[in-house]
Amino acid sequence: MNTLFVGKNLLELSEVDSTNAFASKLLDSQPTEGTVVRTAYQSAGRGQQSNVWLSQANANLTFSLILYPHFIPPKRSFILNKVVSLALHRCIQEFLPFKAVSIKWPNDILVEGKKVAGILIENHLFQHGIKASVIGIGLNVNQVNFPEELSSKANSLSLEAGQQFDLDSVFTNLLEHLEAFYLQLRSGKTEHLDFGYLQALYGYGEKIRVKFLNPPVLTHSPPVKAPGPALKEEEVLLVGVTPEGLLALQTEGRLRYFYHKQIEFIL
Ligand code: BTN
Repeated sequence: MNTLFVGKNLLELSEVDSTNAFASKLLDSQPTEGTVVRTAYQSAGRGQQSNVWLSQANANLTFSLILYPHFIPPKRSFILNKVVSLALHRCIQEFLPFKAVSIKWPNDILVEGKKVAGILIENHLFQHGIKASVIGIGLNVNQVNFPEELSSKANSLSLEAGQQFDLDSVFTNLLEHLEAFYLQLRSGKTEHLDFGYLQALYGYGEKIRVKFLNPPVLTHSPPVKAPGPALKEEEVLLVGVTPEGLLALQTEGRLRYFYHKQIEFIL
């Protein structure tokens, strides 16, 4: 593996409840930065918003990376999400050079509009920074059958390419990109990251269809009336993502900002 510190300390488990849970417990023993916990099977894989992450044994990548980004103020923690999204995006694009790979704000990677990877970052804070970050990644590589309820939305490298991939090669490539983008962040090159992120962002600068799940949190004056309790679908312009990680959308001539739970993309 061509890295300086990411993955140098690698714990490989045949089975675990969740690599994020395992890595979080490991923090007590102060593992070196870049420690990775990888498993062939999670019995209780965690997804965003208390969802479960289902992944066929031995078919995919499921791992967690431990970083100590003390230099990131907690309210700027979304920059880590950009680092991870960009690394996944680059890795997947290298294995699927002719496919459309995009970052779906805030935690998914899509190939041809279907989810191929998910990110779950759990930060442990101290007063002025992030003490430790457990970065959980699930990347569907060789799985070709998904539970019925997921099959129209889930994707894998294998489904797209019509061939199997060597899991270790994909893993090594991804760790190398994770380190490279993290080093960019550490050296202060955030404008590169911001630019690359927008370039890869699903729907950036385009009109997209979304469903509003809750009233917007922040609005520019004049105040906007909440979309109402029913799930309302709208066509909106995706303007960007704020440094805090809110999605900026333009609707009816106004900029409005949304948290993850307030919006759903209609893909
Ligand atoms: C999501 O899309 O909802 C995020 C999924 C994150 C899944 C990964 S798999 C490795 C790590 N351990 C977990 O329990 N979850 C993350």
